[in-house]
Amino acid sequence: MDTLTLIRPDDWHLHLRDGEALRAVVAATARQFARAIVMPNLKPPVTTVGQAIDYRDRILAALRETAGDEPACAGFEPLMTLYLTDRTPPDEIRRAKDSGVVHAVKLYPAGATTNSDAGVTSMAAVRGAIEAMQAAGLPLLIHGEVTDASVDVFDRERVFIDQVLEPLRRDFPALRVVFEHITTQEAAQYVATAPGAIAATITPHHLLYERNALFKGGMRPHWYCLPILKRETHRRALLEAATSGSPRFFLGTDSAPHSKHLKENACGCAGCYTAPHALELYAAAFESVGALDRLEGFASLHGPDFYRLPRNTARVTLRRESWTVPEALPFGDEAIVPLAAGEPLAWRLAAG
Ligand code: NCD
Ligand code: ZN
Repeated sequence: MDTLTLIRPDDWHLHLRDGEALRAVVAATARQFARAIVMPNLKPPVTTVGQAIDYRDRILAALRETAGDEPACAGFEPLMTLYLTDRTPPDEIRRAKDSGVVHAVKLYPAGATTNSDAGVTSMAAVRGAIEAMQAAGLPLLIHGEVTDASVDVFDRERVFIDQVLEPLRRDFPALRVVFEHITTQEAAQYVATAPGAIAATITPHHLLYERNALFKGGMRPHWYCLPILKRETHRRALLEAATSGSPRFFLGTDSAPHSKHLKENACGCAGCYTAPHALELYAAAFESVGALDRLEGFASLHGPDFYRLPRNTARVTLRRESWTVPEALPFGDEAIVPLAAGEPLAWRLAAG
């Protein structure tokens, strides 16, 4: 099989940043995806519907500016999210639902990851807002890691399921939840079997790499993201979940651009930049287990079904063609190193 045609996919977890960085990355996503759920962890975070509408306008302006006449980018739709804080009023949730622009609310436990300082400090503080989300049917997107420094970084997702996620879902059984960028066998198992409306996104890097990639021949900062890569047994479980055909698992790149110099740093930032070749990376992962026939469900169907949005109708084609991921790409005045830089890939998205 040398070509693979799919309904145009969407990215259900994406970081686009703002300003120069936004202009550097937005077209890469629009070339691959029809829509993307845009994370709100800017500095300061996107906490109101008004800010989300303004950010959406900046995204579309940046796309027009950098890829105005590219047919492949036409019609790209940013799906906005709000950043949940201890002080988010339930009214803001209702406004979000009514806006038609905001499609979900993101919960970052305070301090869990990049730009999460304004995040939630206790679940008790957000009960009113979560109640409003449950009533409105607005999905809660969860960065599922505890932040207790005494819990080993490799265990923080597993511990979060028992300590936070299960109690939350017992209290709000009708809440629609996306467990974002799952990385463990325990999370895959929980999402596959738990009652109620729950789904998970899975990144290409967690399907392709296990934690030794971080240390192959030396420190490899471009493989550092949060939640951190786990053992091979977990990677296998994620691959199994992604290729199972279950509608609860869908594509979310968590493409998280940071400049080369902020990654290759004494205190390097967390995040892998995968937007330019995301679909090719997923194809490599699915092909590794002989499951390319399951890619369309994962990439193009399960996400819109969960978000209660129409499926896309346009199609994209991947061709079998060996090529090498660039060592670096322009990023404003700086450079950015994409994940798997310098490595060969077997599939390539045909220009739209
Ligand atoms: C993300 C970022 O850089 O914004 N980083 C990451 O490692 N994934 C934040 C996040 O999604 O955790
Ligand atoms: Zn993310």
